[in-house]
Amino acid sequence: MKPTVVVFGSLNMDLVARVQRLPSPGETLTGQQFETTPGGKGANQAVAAARLGAPTAMVGRVGADAFGEQLLASLASHGVVTDAILRDTDAHTGVALINVAQNGDNAIVVVPGANGRVQSADVERLRPFLADAAILLVQLEVPHEAVLAALRLAREMGVRTILDPAPAQADLPDELLACCDILTPNEHEAAILVGGTITTAVEAAEAAETLRARGASVAIITRGEKGATVAVAEGVWHQPPFRASVVDTVGAGDAFDGALAALLADGQDLATAVRWAAAAGALAVQRHGAQAAMPTREEVLALVQSKRP
Ligand code: RIB
Repeated sequence: MKPTVVVFGSLNMDLVARVQRLPSPGETLTGQQFETTPGGKGANQAVAAARLGAPTAMVGRVGADAFGEQLLASLASHGVVTDAILRDTDAHTGVALINVAQNGDNAIVVVPGANGRVQSADVERLRPFLADAAILLVQLEVPHEAVLAALRLAREMGVRTILDPAPAQADLPDELLACCDILTPNEHEAAILVGGTITTAVEAAEAAETLRARGASVAIITRGEKGATVAVAEGVWHQPPFRASVVDTVGAGDAFDGALAALLADGQDLATAVRWAAAAGALAVQRHGAQAAMPTREEVLALVQSKRP
């Protein structure tokens, strides 16, 4: 089946240490557990969309090393088409050094490697997929010029675009926002984008409207256990949260974005897609890992249909 969701972005090997709490600057802590697991915002979102049943392809770069091979194998095991992921012989595969505290908080250092070498020319590998796709999903872990080129090509080819502006950036050009149909920052990213703080529902609604005024057609601010704030041309609405016992928040935003893309590609309306995306995020935080935590379509459906808000 031809991919309906195409992801342009990063692939990382996540080197994860589980600790009681996050270390302070200069402090050495003893961790409880260590593992290497496939991650990267782009790859996580591709897996999330594929697990929800969307035929999905990814375009990006890994190094010609063992981590790169493992990342491609992981994506393929979830059914993601990986043919257009370049194996770059001049850079290592991207890595993310992640500390996860017992309360679910995390701190991440990303070393981009091959992700940092993604260029506007890589966008040409998107073209054959976009001819049949419904959604292009991008993030900011690859260079902005390449992200902009991908968004522009999707626009030109009539494909709906979703931009996850993560990791957080203060100086995102309005040009990027103007090319995205749907922008999905979390509270922290949205606050940095609009230059303020967001703690209340009113502040979230104001920030979402500001992001729409800057060019995004729809702005969705994900707010963790507080749900999501959605701004569309007709106004702002609130998606209530699904209850979750948090063990690891790494990849929760990616679960949201992948599910949103999958549901929209399936022809569902925005309200349904946001509800499923919120449920996918709530399920993802209840498991360890990024790609390993992405829920299946059946799991999300069961939560959406349950009485839980
Ligand atoms: O969004 C979570 C991801 O961010 C992790 O998998 C890590 O690779 C970093 O890119």
